[in-house]
Amino acid sequence: MEVKLAKTAGFCFGVKRAVETVYEQVEKEKGKKIYTYGPIIHNEEVVKDMQKKGVTVIKTEEELESLESGVVIIRSHGVPKRIYDKLEEKNITCVDATCPFVKKIHNIVKKESEAGSQIVIIGNSTHPEVEGIKGWSTSPVAVIQTVEDVNNFKFDKSKKVCIVSQTTFNYKKFEELVEIISKKRYDISVLNTICNATTERQTEARSIAEGVDAMIVIGDKHSSNTQKLFEICDKVCNNTYYIQTLDDLDLNQLGSAKTVGITAGASTPNNIIEEVQNNVRINF
Ligand code: F3S
Repeated sequence: MEVKLAKTAGFCFGVKRAVETVYEQVEKEKGKKIYTYGPIIHNEEVVKDMQKKGVTVIKTEEELESLESGVVIIRSHGVPKRIYDKLEEKNITCVDATCPFVKKIHNIVKKESEAGSQIVIIGNSTHPEVEGIKGWSTSPVAVIQTVEDVNNFKFDKSKKVCIVSQTTFNYKKFEELVEIISKKRYDISVLNTICNATTERQTEARSIAEGVDAMIVIGDKHSSNTQKLFEICDKVCNNTYYIQTLDDLDLNQLGSAKTVGITAGASTPNNIIEEVQNNVRINF
């Protein structure tokens, strides 16, 4: 049997960096209490492992408010500026693991809003990354996700419009929305801040799934990008299986498959991918 493992399976650059930061801090700051502001990634296994090492997840801004000391790690999604200000005020050490691609958006939004532009974020308004981006603007921000949102939004004619995107937004949808806005306004600057990691992972998954007898997609059941990967693979390969860890994999299901493809969502740790890969190889 041949096993094809996707090169883009698992953590993207920003998530890998954030996870490594937590483990580094655990080693470096022994004796200090380590917190992450929100779960560092959407993966129960990883979060549980960090908890075992003494890392606590802060779930709300109120919880952050009640902290007196310790080290707070900012995850790859980033946070609004006021969170850094709060930590500074309280004299709490802040370790920033915001993905540099997200940080770049924060800087654009800060600069452009200070210059008087109307900031438009194309993305999902409830996503933590978008909430973080919003928090770098010095003026109210419009978050647009659908055609309806564009049509309902009243643009201030006296301002220039600066459009940025949530890093994981769909490029086609982004283009479509930008086109509609361009028809309403002339003075817009569009910054495509979509990150390629997701698209590359999806493209590779589809191409592997097309050429194998069975496909395994590994990821947390709550991870939306893993669900998306599963849908993409399932469309082109009838024998596609969604598993969280090796325990969910029934090797009998793979039956007479001669080629098996493996990919994994952005928050699936490498050791889980390796374990699945090795077991498939050993058992066939
Ligand atoms: Fe960063 Fe792109 Fe990942 S923005 S966190 S490398 S999906």
